[in-house]
Amino acid sequence: MDIFDMEIIIQPTAEAATSIAARIIACLLREKPNAVLGLATGSTPLLLYRELIAMKLDWRKVTTFNLDEYVGLDAAHPQSYHSFMWENLFWHVNIPAKNVNIPNGMTKNIPACCESYERKILAVGGIDLQVLGIGTDGHIGFNEQTSSLASRTRIKTLTPRTRKDNARFFGSEAKVPHHVITMGIGTILDARHCLLLAFGKQKARAIAEAVEGPVTSMNPASVLQLHPKVTVCLAAGAASKLKLRDYYRWVFDQKPDWQKI
Ligand code: PGA
Repeated sequence: MDIFDMEIIIQPTAEAATSIAARIIACLLREKPNAVLGLATGSTPLLLYRELIAMKLDWRKVTTFNLDEYVGLDAAHPQSYHSFMWENLFWHVNIPAKNVNIPNGMTKNIPACCESYERKILAVGGIDLQVLGIGTDGHIGFNEQTSSLASRTRIKTLTPRTRKDNARFFGSEAKVPHHVITMGIGTILDARHCLLLAFGKQKARAIAEAVEGPVTSMNPASVLQLHPKVTVCLAAGAASKLKLRDYYRWVFDQKPDWQKI
């Protein structure tokens, strides 16, 4: 039986934290070549995708589901998450295009598109491992503060803070769409393993609240405390507000050989 928990791994740099996350994914793909991966976009997973590409893993049987997409951006738009994923990962690995799933931001029927996304996840047996970043407000996917902790894939309206955070990709805040389709928090919790990455001091408060604060929709990532198998890979900056950071470091350093990643 798989013994697991919420594991907090603190590394000196983003590169070192990413390298652990990449090893976890590589182990999964070697053990289960037809694994189902949940994937994320944004700055955080860029290093991870670079490392996974360099590992030359076999993606022929892998299926992927991305967390979210902007409403109103077609797949070819440079800031769409379709473009992001193909540019930063899929074009560089041998995944068949038919195995890639990303919500369609141009759908004419958003509820039907969301429902079919959920059905597709179920049809392939659920997500084995979900990669997550975290917003400065604690959002996961685009589940903004006060999202239902039981939510499924649906349309969400971005908060001014998230639109400001993401303006750097669009050149100006005005160009950031207001609406997105995102997997729900309930959808994320159904994944068998959640792998959350965070680097940089700007994420320190969101991480401290998510890991050590109360479970609250004001920090959607805090719901991961209810999940049986979560790995949190942090660079020192993002870990800097954790009260028990020395304990997490000690636990990781003392892991018995059979539990090492
Ligand atoms: P970032 O975004 O990786 O670009 O910091 C994370 C998120 O908003 O989920």
